[in-house]
Amino acid sequence: MRTIVITGGTDGMGAALARHYLGAGEQVVVIGRDRAKFEALRATASGPGRARFFAADLSSVAESRRVVEQLRAEHDRIDALVLAASFIRQSRYVTAEGHEASWVLFFVSKYLFVTGLADRLRAAERPVVVNTAVPGTRTDAIDFDDPGMRAGFTFARANAQQRRANELLGILATEADPRLSYVTWGPRGLVRTSFAGEVGPAMQLSAAVLGRLLGARPDTAIRPMISLIDDPAPGRSAYRGARRKPLVTGDHDGRDIARLAALIERDISPASPE
Ligand SMILES: NC(=O)c1ccc[n+]([C@@H]2O[C@H](COP(=O)([O-])OP(=O)(O)OC[C@H]3O[C@@H](n4cnc5c(N)ncnc54)[C@H](OP(=O)(O)O)[C@@H]3O)[C@@H](O)[C@H]2O)c1
Repeated sequence: MRTIVITGGTDGMGAALARHYLGAGEQVVVIGRDRAKFEALRATASGPGRARFFAADLSSVAESRRVVEQLRAEHDRIDALVLAASFIRQSRYVTAEGHEASWVLFFVSKYLFVTGLADRLRAAERPVVVNTAVPGTRTDAIDFDDPGMRAGFTFARANAQQRRANELLGILATEADPRLSYVTWGPRGLVRTSFAGEVGPAMQLSAAVLGRLLGARPDTAIRPMISLIDDPAPGRSAYRGARRKPLVTGDHDGRDIARLAALIERDISPASPE
C-alpha cells in the first residue's frame, strides 16, 4: 500500500485525487483547513479507514512546519506528495506572521514540504512530487530583494514569481535525489473546481461562468496526474494536462537556487517578519 499525501485534498482536484487513491486501496493523507469537507469526502469515498486528515493553514509558516513534523512522526515512507492547496488572492495580503500570504501558500510552504520530507520520499521505491504550479515562466521572475512584494505587487508578478520558484525547487529536489520524479503540472484548461479565494468581481464571474461552461470535471482533469504518479519517471518534468512541456532553464539556475534557499532561511525565521 502506498502513502499519498495531498495538500488541498479536501476540494477540487486534490479531493478528486484523494477519492481515486482511496478507491485504489492506498493510504491517503489529506491536508486542508476544513475538517467538514474532509468528513464529507470520507463519507462518500471507498476505504474511508485509510484516509487521514491534518488540519492546517498552509499560508502560515509555523503551521506548515508543524504538519511536516507530524508527517515525519507518523510516516517513515511517503510515496507521492501532491501539492495542490490553493487560495487565490488578487491583492497583497499580509498574514498574522507578517508574511505575504500567497508567497507562503504557493511557494514557501511547498519548499518546507519538499525539503522537510525528502528522506521520507527517498524511502519510497518510486518517489514522486506533483506540484500543481503551472509550468513555464520567465527566469527573471523572482524578486530576491522583496519576495513579499511590499513594492509593486500585482497578481501577475506574484504568480510568475511563485511559478519560477517552484521550478527551481524541482531542480533542487532532483539534484538532491536523482531517483525523485518532480513534476510541475497544470491542467490543460479550466477545471470546474471551487476556485477558492478572494478575487475581484470580474475574476470571480469569469471563473464561475467560464468554469461552469468550459471547465473539465476534476475527476477527468486529474487523469494525467494519476498516470504521472503511478508511473513516475526520475528527474524533473513539466506538463499541461497529459502534454509534456519543455523545461524552462535559465543561465543562472544554480545561483538562483542558492539565493532562493538563502532568502527563505532568512525570511521565514520567526524573528524576521515584515
Ligand atoms: N481549477 C483550475 O482551473 C486550475 C487551473 C490552473 C491551475 N490550477 C491549480 O490546481 C491546483 C488545485 O486547484 P483547484 O482548483 O482544484 O483548487 P480548489 O478547488 O480551489 O481547492 C483548493 C484546496 O486548497 C485548500 N486550501 C485553500 N487554502 C488553504 C490554506 N491556506 N491552507 C491549506 N489548504 C488550503 C482547500 O481546502 P480547505 O477549504 O479545506 O482549506 C482546498 O482543498 C492549484 O494549485 C491551482 O492553482 C487550477
